[in-house]
Amino acid sequence: MQADQSLPFRKTAKNLVFGEGSLNPKIYILGEAPGRTEDETGQPFVGRSGKFLRELITSIGFDPLKDVYITSVVRFRPPENKTPTPKQVAAYEKYINLELQIIKPKLIVTVGGVSLKKFSREPITKIHAKPMQVSWLGARFTLVPMFHPAAALRNPAIKRAMIRDFQKLKALVK
Ligand code: URA
Repeated sequence: MQADQSLPFRKTAKNLVFGEGSLNPKIYILGEAPGRTEDETGQPFVGRSGKFLRELITSIGFDPLKDVYITSVVRFRPPENKTPTPKQVAAYEKYINLELQIIKPKLIVTVGGVSLKKFSREPITKIHAKPMQVSWLGARFTLVPMFHPAAALRNPAIKRAMIRDFQKLKALVK
């Protein structure tokens, strides 16, 4: 498949990193952008922080492939893993929106501040693990903002918070 040539980072990335998992998921997880390992493999969240995210999913009794759909708002790796600008994120939006209209998730978990911006202007530090009802493009779903696993790996306090937040998520899905 030829990806849209106008997408940011198309020319420097090795692979398109699409979504992975269930097309009828209990949770749709939306991250920021692929890193080096994701760019090499073409799979989302398979590097160090991805492994931690998958461990968190497993720790609350879900299978990362059968129960969850995992993807990111940007689908080519930004050089040097730079944080994508709002304009670069916006270039991918039509595809993300189409995907959401096909999958129709009832529960969306954003990981990190970049994907949260799609749905809320509140800072992640204030609203992490706080479920909110969102009406968007004619659909209704519950949004649960979470910290990004890369931030958790850099900061033990965020890691502890993220582990607690996933326990709250478990109570919400069950
Ligand atoms: N971080 C993200 O936000 N997305 C990935 O696919 C990998 C790491």
